[in-house]
Amino acid sequence: MKKNLAMVLAAIMLLCVAIPAFAGNEEKPVIWFNRQPSNSTTGELDMDALTFNDKTYYVGFDAKQGAELQGKMIVDYLLAHGEGLDRNGDGIIGYVLCIGDVGHNDSIARTRGARKALGTAIPDALQGKTEIATIDDVDSQPIGTNPDGSADHVKDGSIEIDGKTYIVRELASQEMKNSSGATWDAPTAGNAIIAWEGSFGDQIDVVVSNNDGMGMAVFNAWAKEKGVPTFGYDANSDAVAAIADGYCGTISQNADVQAYLTLRTLRNTLDGADIMVGISTPDAAGNVLSDDLYYYDEATRCFYALNGAVTADNYEAFLDATAANPAFSNQLSEADGAIKKVWLSIYNSADNFLNATYVPQLKNYAAALNLDVEYVLGDGQTEANLIDRLGNPSEYDGFAINMVKTDNAASYMVKLMQ
Ligand code: BGC
Ligand code: CA
Repeated sequence: MKKNLAMVLAAIMLLCVAIPAFAGNEEKPVIWFNRQPSNSTTGELDMDALTFNDKTYYVGFDAKQGAELQGKMIVDYLLAHGEGLDRNGDGIIGYVLCIGDVGHNDSIARTRGARKALGTAIPDALQGKTEIATIDDVDSQPIGTNPDGSADHVKDGSIEIDGKTYIVRELASQEMKNSSGATWDAPTAGNAIIAWEGSFGDQIDVVVSNNDGMGMAVFNAWAKEKGVPTFGYDANSDAVAAIADGYCGTISQNADVQAYLTLRTLRNTLDGADIMVGISTPDAAGNVLSDDLYYYDEATRCFYALNGAVTADNYEAFLDATAANPAFSNQLSEADGAIKKVWLSIYNSADNFLNATYVPQLKNYAAALNLDVEYVLGDGQTEANLIDRLGNPSEYDGFAINMVKTDNAASYMVKLMQ
């Protein structure tokens, strides 16, 4: 009996020693960014992931505001450039649409925003919608091709330009997914436009893309030479530069603000500081965001950057998408923020926006905020590829996670709870 008791006690002691080595990871800061934990079919937020612990937040941008802005930018352009727009003179403004990822909230919003603005939107039957009050009600499914206007998921719209009424038709749309499953795939878009040209030729008057990666692939492969107006999203440096060569416009989702917020929320949670330090109120180094740049939704613990249109009118100010913003890149002293180690994933090493714009911005602010960040780049297809490389979470003070699929937050949470 005594011996048994001694063994139990020894076992308990062992456990007590063993537990702290593992435990604790589930209490560390977890910042989801760019891919919002959510159901990829319904868009519903994954509140378990967003409230994983009291140091968990999401940082993204306002997808709806940006999508409406992209739609408006396109329509404003059409209204101002009626002459020569209808390339074959058939009275139809035909456009093609490059869709990024049918299960990604950002992509869905942009498809909806473009369709609503262009008058081609129908209510989203999958969501049980029968009318369109806001872009959230719009059907966002790809149509394949639509030579005669009879496709499901869209209808023909109309627009009056300089006193003449044109039909607006979505001639084709497709999710740009490559053969191994990576979405938002620029090379796939470059190939698609060649196929669409084969089917539609000079019926294609406008190119709309859910992002600049795909938009620029189409521009370089085809639209630049043909002089066909092309619109993207992200304001990557190469796309902004191309405005000088005829790329018509893009939307800045303020990657600088988002990269800063991703690291700032880590800094604050690591320091046990108020979450709004350096955000709504200046930190010790004077870093602060002006409130026209972002908003915070406390109920869902989500920070959203706001978007701005970048067109021929203002693009010069956006040429360097990787420049640090002087208002929030002041160096924090180590006394005000000790160096901490962060594990940070990027879902796809080939994603244009994340690698060309977001990561360089993260590097700016990581240095200023004394965060030692390990960047782990995924293949865009397999979540395990990222998670398996989080071999020992105990080595890190916090985590910033960009998932392959927005449904997959639980896999990361399990890893941190092991
Ligand atoms: C960007 C896309 C990018 C995606 C990755 C979006 O916000 O606009 O360019 O591919 O994020 O998740
Ligand atoms: Ca036409």
